[in-house]
Amino acid sequence: MRCPRCGAEVPPSPLSFKCPRCGELLDAVIEEPIIKPKGRGVWRFSSILPQPRTKITLGEGCTPLIRLRSDLLLKFEGANPTGSFKDRGMTVGVSIAKAAGASSLVVASTGNTAASAAAYGAAAGLEVKVALPDGHVAAGKLAQAIVHGATILKIRGNFDEALNYVLEKEAGRSYPLNSFNPWRLEGQKTIALEIIEEARIDNVIVPVGNAGNIYAIWKGYREAMEAGLVESIPRLIGVQAEGASPIASAWAMGREELVPVKPETVASAIRIGKPVNWFRAWRAVKATGGGFMKVSDEEIINAQKALARMGIFVELASASTYAAYLRLAGSGELSGSTVLIATGHGLKDPDAVARYLPRIIEVY
Ligand code: F0G
Repeated sequence: MRCPRCGAEVPPSPLSFKCPRCGELLDAVIEEPIIKPKGRGVWRFSSILPQPRTKITLGEGCTPLIRLRSDLLLKFEGANPTGSFKDRGMTVGVSIAKAAGASSLVVASTGNTAASAAAYGAAAGLEVKVALPDGHVAAGKLAQAIVHGATILKIRGNFDEALNYVLEKEAGRSYPLNSFNPWRLEGQKTIALEIIEEARIDNVIVPVGNAGNIYAIWKGYREAMEAGLVESIPRLIGVQAEGASPIASAWAMGREELVPVKPETVASAIRIGKPVNWFRAWRAVKATGGGFMKVSDEEIINAQKALARMGIFVELASASTYAAYLRLAGSGELSGSTVLIATGHGLKDPDAVARYLPRIIEVY
């Protein structure tokens, strides 16, 4: 493992997360990656993934890449077993936790990580605790945590406060599976590898909360480039909701420094004010010639509706990518082909639909 900030090297272990020298989050490094796809889904890319003794899998990955226009595709991560991209990371992270002999798992979450940890923990026979910001988790995600038997730790605060609680009070007792855990990001990098197998892409638009997934996608592309599968990495564009946009704000000012905010947005999945992965995500996005931007809640809601009218129901956080696309395409800032990473299914958040006027005809 290597520190992306100071370059320190650390032997890999399930519990190494932070650089002992400077405190930055550690990366799992794969020297001279060889990619030999075999089988289906996330474990199809086993040659560049850790190899825990038993694999806890629910058939994650292998999600549809849907063509919306000649130059626009959507990677529908809502088709994963628990309805979000988190399953890609959880199959790797929970397998490692199980192999390391953990008896319980813990995550702080805006909802999807909790749903996924609850399901994969149940499949592994492990106890799961989920720290959730009270009143700000979509109903479907909460239902998943409950039905899979997780214990809910109610946090009177936002995601950032839930994550602090996990780091300070739970991490020593249970195996933590937030995105500071590099093994989860290893699973998530397979999004890039699946795209590569189907299409040559110039721009990838990703919703950003804690900024783990955009980094994971970059890592997948970089390893594919090192393995000779692609010649270059597409421009990565990270989208934040206006009310929760510390990275996009710093980017707009050209200042590589994070000033945490008190987050507020309808897109509850990315209602995060202090993204732990911001540094490596920043470096990755910069290296691709991409950028970070913000979109308003109104644009996000309109984008969700527009996608739904094309037959694709994604949750609000995911719809931010289409809002960003519309803005960039409208101002002529995008060239070539684009893929939107639609991270979660719309059914996760049925309350969001209350905004739309139903067309009802009373027949009896
Ligand atoms: N989209 C969805 C649907 C999410 O649930 C999340 C994160 C993101 C995008 C952002 O990904 O954090 O890697 O930048 N959800 C986390 C959770 C925080 O707890 O479920 P990121």
